[in-house]
Amino acid sequence: MSHSVNEPTLWVPGRELPSGAVHGKESLGRYLARLRELAGQPTWDAMARAAFPQAKVPGRRPRGVNSIRNWCAGRHAPADPDALARLVRYLAKRAGLADPQALAAQFRQALAALDRTPPAQPQLTPIRLGTRLPGLTGREDLIGQIAHRLAAAPLAPAIVALTGIAGVGKTSAAVEYAHRYRHGYQLVWQIPADGPGALWSGFAQLANILGVRDRAGRDSTDPVLQVHTALATRPGRWLVIIDGVPEAAAIRHVIPPVGDGHVIVTSQHPLWPDEQALPVPVLDAATAARYLTAATKDPDAGAARALAEELGGLPLALEQAAAYIRAAGESIGGYLALFRDQDARAALLAESGGTAYGKGVAAVWLVAFEHLARHEPSAVTLLRLLSCYAPDAIPYRDLLAEPAGPGAQSRALAGNPFELNNAIIALRRYSLLQQPADGLTSVHRLVQAVTLGQLTDGERAQWKAEAAELMERRNAACVSVI
Ligand SMILES: Nc1ncnc2c1ncn2[C@@H]1O[C@H](COP(=O)(O)OP(=O)(O)O)[C@@H](O)[C@H]1O
Ligand SMILES: [Mg+2]
Repeated sequence: MSHSVNEPTLWVPGRELPSGAVHGKESLGRYLARLRELAGQPTWDAMARAAFPQAKVPGRRPRGVNSIRNWCAGRHAPADPDALARLVRYLAKRAGLADPQALAAQFRQALAALDRTPPAQPQLTPIRLGTRLPGLTGREDLIGQIAHRLAAAPLAPAIVALTGIAGVGKTSAAVEYAHRYRHGYQLVWQIPADGPGALWSGFAQLANILGVRDRAGRDSTDPVLQVHTALATRPGRWLVIIDGVPEAAAIRHVIPPVGDGHVIVTSQHPLWPDEQALPVPVLDAATAARYLTAATKDPDAGAARALAEELGGLPLALEQAAAYIRAAGESIGGYLALFRDQDARAALLAESGGTAYGKGVAAVWLVAFEHLARHEPSAVTLLRLLSCYAPDAIPYRDLLAEPAGPGAQSRALAGNPFELNNAIIALRRYSLLQQPADGLTSVHRLVQAVTLGQLTDGERAQWKAEAAELMERRNAACVSVI
């Protein structure tokens, strides 16, 4: 047991009081109880009368009996040092100790030295967070950038928006960051944002946990406001992840405006303020190949590298391929051979078993394709056309500068920059295109594969012919039709 200046020792010469230091009300209680024993166990009433003489009312039970029982049991430290001193003097006299006055002074000192602040309650850190991805590969740079951006942001709360196509690994990166850095936060809360209902209930749960919402569900106050109010003044840093946001405008009102906190948003929509946007890249070929060999236990590094390139380093597609390879007892090389066949490729991309997502790339992007087909048909036209070229640096503006012939499928776009821009904007909303610059853009090769996979052989042939014709017309020697 270590002694310090804050832990005075009580002793009674010639008597065996418990030795050691007074650590708190419990140990003070043990001393008092022992002293009472030495004094021949006087009644509680007698002790109370000794400690609180002024409260004596003839014929009534003395005041303070409960307090004294509590002191001796170590449940409470005496609030009144004079009463404690009187009690100690009384007991010491009855026990026949040499210097009751001195002992009372020691007890007084011990009481004064007790730390009266209540023992710190273990601070609960509310957490709602997806599980960490066991096979997460790479991403050291990205996680480091998230940490740096959040720590260095000039405004509070700090906001980072992870952007990129569905399946590129935005959520996984946000969750990994949160796990790694959770010790720096007193609250970590992940809110799904893929619909107004999800946002509302995510905020309502958080408001419940923060104690600002009626748990019975009768509270009709906007939970977003409740959470904002609570976070604004909450001590300790918090982290809120708003996951799967369609676009900045959709959640402007839900981002906590004030407080010592960090916000990570994930979104397919790339248009966020520059200070906030952090595009999530695909995995580089070496990292993707490492993932494939580890996830499939097939050590064929050459095939893994080739497949990683075919899949364009897209995490969801890599995971989907690894799941298929394991389930089918296939090798990476075998999968690669299948994948290079146009028909088998579409079927493989449509496979949905075995991913943490529960879906494969074709199914995940279907939502976007269907929405575009309904609301922005010319975006679908543009995507089909761009899917016929080699994926990088397609000079789309040049290709579509002139009006097309009457039978052309791209006639809505050709020679119509306004419509072309609308199509670009619509595709960008889902990160289905790279940010265009100088009339060039790139399409992820799997987006191309899935787009072409949705067509019949005849349609595909027609699109390819049209793509070739546009290319010839513009004499765009740098592009090749795939
Ligand atoms: N770095 C990575 N290594 C291995 N698998 C990954 C990695 N990032 C993502 N995944 C897997 O890819 C899939 C898509 O990732 P997710 O983070 O959900 O993408 P997003 O949020 O961008 O749509 C998930 O099923 C996940 O398990
Ligand atoms: Mg996600």
